[in-house]
Amino acid sequence: MTLLISNIRWLVGTHPLSIEQLKGREISHLPIIENAFLLIDNQRITRFGTMPEPNRPTRADQYVDASNRAVLPAFCDSHTHLVFAASREKEFEMRLKGMPYETIAANGGGILNSARKLGVMSENELFERSLARLEEAQSLGTAAIEIKSGYGLTVESELKMLRVIRRLKEKMGEKMCIKATFLGAHAVPTVFKENRKAYISLIINEMLPKIAAEGLADYVDVFCEKIAFSADETDEILRGAARFGLRPKIHTNQFNSMKGIETALKNRAISVDHLEVLTENEIKLLGNSPTIATLLPTAPFFLNDPHTPPARELIDAGATVALATDFNPGTSPSVSMPFVVSLACIRLRMTPAESINAATLNGAAALEVANDFGSIAVGKMGRVILTKPIPSVAFLPYNFGTNWIEKVF
Ligand code: NIG
Ligand code: FE
Repeated sequence: MTLLISNIRWLVGTHPLSIEQLKGREISHLPIIENAFLLIDNQRITRFGTMPEPNRPTRADQYVDASNRAVLPAFCDSHTHLVFAASREKEFEMRLKGMPYETIAANGGGILNSARKLGVMSENELFERSLARLEEAQSLGTAAIEIKSGYGLTVESELKMLRVIRRLKEKMGEKMCIKATFLGAHAVPTVFKENRKAYISLIINEMLPKIAAEGLADYVDVFCEKIAFSADETDEILRGAARFGLRPKIHTNQFNSMKGIETALKNRAISVDHLEVLTENEIKLLGNSPTIATLLPTAPFFLNDPHTPPARELIDAGATVALATDFNPGTSPSVSMPFVVSLACIRLRMTPAESINAATLNGAAALEVANDFGSIAVGKMGRVILTKPIPSVAFLPYNFGTNWIEKVF
């Protein structure tokens, strides 16, 4: 199957194949070819450049005219909790009346609420609901996605979540690249409240070996936070997971700075995610590290939390900044990468070029799939977004909350 897109007003994100992530201020440069064509053969990008297309193939199976439109690499959403049983709009209403997220969580709401609902749901039902969300992600331009467990919190339910993720991988095939992350350390279950050590031991000695035996996870995650796990506990879990070859992508510095970053860097984390509350020293550490700083601007937006990740400072310090949705029923019930890109401009003061790079190539790097996704380069998967007619590329983040996607290939 050959697809030729011609008359592309802006072909966006044509980074050389050799560039696998954009560190520090490199993120500010978004290469664009004006008046371009793009040829995709057998799912892969085989040729692109300025019009006219030199040897127009005698027969492409599909021709698309992209006059007045942009074509950009599909999004890589490197942090989601897409597998969950049910939405939590009751807690949303409680928060609107003034109860803080952390108080709701401490009283058995939040993650524990999701875990109760997931525990009693059949694997099939969970799969069907998650599949529908994944299809929505796809229609919003996402081609590669990370999905976490962490609403199970028992051996059986964590395995159930990870098996659902595996079934989603099988079902979607080439249509969606999926990475699975084991997040057994998302919250301490109520029955272990007085004996945290026993839950940590359950994670390390029972969950991890079973997950590894079935090959169910690509990464390990821990929620390093006052309402969840300390830095020492995080370290213990990450070291336990390293025995099975699982590298960390962790939740840290969402509400408090408590040595999560040091712990993650020491354990060779692929990424540290959230980073709403960061000290100057932590910004420096990330600037000098290969670990990716993944920012999730919709979470503090939805929680009405005045703390937003210091994107500008991270970029200036030299950190690799990625953007993701954090799609979950408690703090970010939206799987829209276009909205994340807008919010990164509006609230994090990233430029349109920076936020598109962070949501594509640096997102791919945070999923370790930059060889196949995240930019327009010969040999990469031909997963691209065709926009509706637009006046400029900057119009995309500017036009927030509006569906500017015409088609996703
Ligand atoms: O990334 N921070 C921890 N986990 C999720 C929220 C989980 C929930 O409330 O269900 C997050 O924000
Ligand atoms: Fe999260």
